[in-house]
Amino acid sequence: MRMRRKKHGAERIAACAELLIQLPQTETPAPVMPALYFPAARQNMPVWLEIGCGKGGFATGMAAAHPQANFLAMERVADVACLALEKAKACAAQRPEDNLRFIIANAERLDEFFAPASFTDLFLNFSDPWPKKGYAKRRLTHRNFLEQYKKLLVPGGYLHFKTDNDDLFAFSIEEFAAFGLTLVWKTDDLHNSAYNEGNVETEYEHNFASKGKNIHAALLRFEDGAAQ
Ligand SMILES: C[S@@+](CC[C@H](N)C(=O)[O-])C[C@H]1O[C@@H](n2cnc3c(N)ncnc32)[C@H](O)[C@@H]1O
Repeated sequence: MRMRRKKHGAERIAACAELLIQLPQTETPAPVMPALYFPAARQNMPVWLEIGCGKGGFATGMAAAHPQANFLAMERVADVACLALEKAKACAAQRPEDNLRFIIANAERLDEFFAPASFTDLFLNFSDPWPKKGYAKRRLTHRNFLEQYKKLLVPGGYLHFKTDNDDLFAFSIEEFAAFGLTLVWKTDDLHNSAYNEGNVETEYEHNFASKGKNIHAALLRFEDGAAQ
């Protein structure tokens, strides 16, 4: 997602500080359990992670709809994260619980930041497709990323994946199978399927679906996670 540099971006992000996790500015941070970033009474609840949250519509909607979970949304572009933070702040009254946090970071360093078995569920929504073959390793469903996710998810943890991109979906389904993930379900037309119940739309999803594009989705399970 490209965008012009936000005026007063740093101040605008600072104004949402209560929603932002600040990572230690060291080259080798000590990995933490992300549950610690939520209120004490919620620290025994599952943490869900979204990578590449964009403008934050999904994170905001999911946190409001699922008060039983802690939701952590990661975005690597600060100016985009700024919009997500502002949206989440504006919608605070719609969340029954204080269960939403953001982190501005690149997922390539996920396992440096977070301890093994940190998350029960991971969400990848409309991830950048990186269509050129030479860039396949940058796709968030490439097996190198799956290796990281396996460490970070609890055994039996779930990966939820949605995309408009036909080629990325085909590539990802192959990667998931090669990696030995269990395919719980998949659909090439989420919005006209039984799996759409409870679906929270992302900004990209809304855009593509409103132009008539079918949305691919899949749910995968990591049978053996970090603790095994
Ligand atoms: C195509 S946009 C989709 C945004 C949102 N998920 C949606 O569906 O509306 C992909 C987003 O993922 C972010 N992203 C891509 N690679 C990332 C990475 N390695 N770590 C964190 N964020 C990433 C991009 O900056 C961009 O905001």
